[in-house]
Amino acid sequence: MPSPPLLLSALHRRRSLASPADGPTTAYRLLDGDGDGWPGVEIDSYGGHWIVQTRDLPFPDSLRDLPPELCRSLWWKRLDQQDKQAPQCLAGSPPPGPFPVRELGLSYEIDLAAGYSQGLFLDQRPQRDRLRQRLLPGQRLLNLFAYTGAFSVAAAAQGAIATSVDLSRPYLDWARRNFTLNGFDPDAHFFCRGDSFAWLRRFAKTGRTWDAIVLDPPTFSRNADGALFRLEHDLPELIALCLRVLAPGGWLLASTNHRGLSPARFRSLVEQGAPPGRLRSLAPGTMPPDFTDAPYLKSLWLET
Ligand SMILES: C[S@@+](CC[C@H](N)C(=O)[O-])C[C@H]1O[C@@H](n2cnc3c(N)ncnc32)[C@H](O)[C@@H]1O
Repeated sequence: MPSPPLLLSALHRRRSLASPADGPTTAYRLLDGDGDGWPGVEIDSYGGHWIVQTRDLPFPDSLRDLPPELCRSLWWKRLDQQDKQAPQCLAGSPPPGPFPVRELGLSYEIDLAAGYSQGLFLDQRPQRDRLRQRLLPGQRLLNLFAYTGAFSVAAAAQGAIATSVDLSRPYLDWARRNFTLNGFDPDAHFFCRGDSFAWLRRFAKTGRTWDAIVLDPPTFSRNADGALFRLEHDLPELIALCLRVLAPGGWLLASTNHRGLSPARFRSLVEQGAPPGRLRSLAPGTMPPDFTDAPYLKSLWLET
């Protein structure tokens, strides 16, 4: 049974996340299954609070009594459950409520008990970083399926103006708090509650355009009217709608964590949505170095 020595070497391999330039990144994947020699087990650290994720495995006994200097609190999330419950705290001192973590010089609010997801998708760190490198002050970013607005906050850090669209009012409120946490005025940005399709059609009708778009939808969802969104079915239409509101020369990041979709199929769905000749190029994104297991995230940077 793998044990703390394996954990210590996984931690050691992630030392570079403490980059001196913009301060340490305190939310990262500490151990990634096969990639770190422990199949079926993943550990994410949020400021020293660890979430152990397992699929079809019990909680590993060797993780039960970790020293407090290694791990402030220990949580368990089962990835094999149908009903997607919040992680449960098994040991240590849980944070009294939401708390900030740092990533590449920015802060994001984490809530370990909020639900199945904790507020920040750690696997998108390279895309948030790249987005910051690409945006110029004053440019406009449309962030669809924005969740807690992590891409929007990264855009604001460059002086860009973000429009965040999400079905959920609580997530948009969380996004506003993420702006405030970084000293950015949320009122200088836009938050649109509702269905991404409906907003895109409305934007197209009124002639609004953006310099850049982030499109990172879930695999499935149901909107307020009960309509089902299925990535594999709806992605081409989403891409087509996005291209209608993208300013000439603008770019789009399309991304999915759908493990059942091959990179080739994802690319083909993206291409299906683009009118002939509209795309100049499509370049793949990357996964962070702390995600050492087989890559599953598919990202494409579309240039027009
Ligand atoms: C996987 S998360 C997106 C992650 C986000 N792109 C990020 O990087 O943080 C899915 C989000 O899509 C939102 N959502 C689901 N269906 C939607 C729809 N039809 N229109 C707008 N938002 C939707 C959910 O409320 C949730 O916040």
